[in-house]
Amino acid sequence: MTITIKPCNSINGTVEVPGDKSISHRLAMLCALASGESTIENFLCSEDCLDTLHAVEKLGAKVERNNKQIKITGTGGKFTPTTEPLDMGNSGTGMRLLCGLLAGQGFSATLIGDDSLSSRPMKRISSPLELMGADIELTGERGSAPIKITGDTLHGISYTLPMASAQVKSAILLAGLFAEGETEVIEPKETRDHTEQLFRAMGIPINIDGLSISITGYAGESIPLKSGNWQVPGDFSSAAFWITAAACRDGAEVTIINVGLNQRRTALIDVLQRMGADIQCKPHSISNNWEPIGDIIVKGNKLTGTVVSGNEIPNLIDELPLVAVAGALATGKTIISDAAELRVKETDRIATVAINLKKLGVTVEEKPDGMIVTGPNKINGNVTLDSFGDHRIAMAMAILAQHADTPIQIDNTDCIATSYPGFEEDLITLTR
Ligand code: S3P
Repeated sequence: MTITIKPCNSINGTVEVPGDKSISHRLAMLCALASGESTIENFLCSEDCLDTLHAVEKLGAKVERNNKQIKITGTGGKFTPTTEPLDMGNSGTGMRLLCGLLAGQGFSATLIGDDSLSSRPMKRISSPLELMGADIELTGERGSAPIKITGDTLHGISYTLPMASAQVKSAILLAGLFAEGETEVIEPKETRDHTEQLFRAMGIPINIDGLSISITGYAGESIPLKSGNWQVPGDFSSAAFWITAAACRDGAEVTIINVGLNQRRTALIDVLQRMGADIQCKPHSISNNWEPIGDIIVKGNKLTGTVVSGNEIPNLIDELPLVAVAGALATGKTIISDAAELRVKETDRIATVAINLKKLGVTVEEKPDGMIVTGPNKINGNVTLDSFGDHRIAMAMAILAQHADTPIQIDNTDCIATSYPGFEEDLITLTR
């Protein structure tokens, strides 16, 4: 699919973005593991999360879907073996977290994915899960999927993560539920903590001491995960497109309602405020006492460049393409560093952002662990961009493309459906 972005000089209105992707994946998996029936409201019905739902269904959970409401009857801790491959599509979160759960099951399973997922590094999860006792073959060319995983009796480990990754942390903690003794993960930097929040909310004791997170496993005993009713907050990473679009546009005003405001996800707000944006957050409820939800009101301004690095990076890892977009429109240099993890996302996001920015006439210098964008730039019209099959690249470039004075075509945009079905409609509504 191709989308054409028309020039526009205002963005105004109120929008509610779809449910959080990270939380939807985790709820699907943990409700499938719990005993009894759970209801998930505002589940993200995007391709990524539907792939996870199909996978847990194949593993024995009963899943009923009524629009964005999902009812899951869990397996009581024991998945049913399946000989069919579990197709995780484009989703690194789906594949890596499910491996954590399968590591503690007494059978073999195969996980496959699309071309992008099959090129992403999986040794980062197979190494710790093998140390815990699982047997994992990475049958792809570069230590990647297809993955054949054979679960076994696991024992706890203390593992220092070589990279800041919530996916790897979560895979180990999920395997830790089945292990004998304590499983400890030590992070180099704080990463998103939805797994930890959900463990607590579902009744699993978890100890967090600075960068160390530990749980005691249930080693063959039943895992006391409580089923329940869950409300998924709007995805901050989807709200981020409108936050950035409005922040960069003098005179704009956009309100995004019912967004997840977990503090480990919202660093984009701090960055844009440093650049001069006028952004207010109004927290208004806590979904089942676990994840904060609120409204975000953004008023546009002229921005100036900033530096984004260090501990801030994991907190806005998925929003860094948007920081580059804001940098292209801001005055001065915007420097992104310590972000080499961007090279192993759905695409190499340092390269794919730089290629597209250059096509739009933006001054950008690619670095091994980030980039330097110098602005403000006049955005070239009449060009064709490529998402390279990466949803966040497609949507970030759509935000920048509105600043050209002639239409811009973005190719390869089917991928938007992996995280934000309805993006184009929301774009049209807000820019009308
Ligand atoms: C995610 C963690 C991040 C993020 C991804 C979702 C998660 O990946 O980029 O989109 O749900 O845990 P890493 O943990 O690999 O950095």
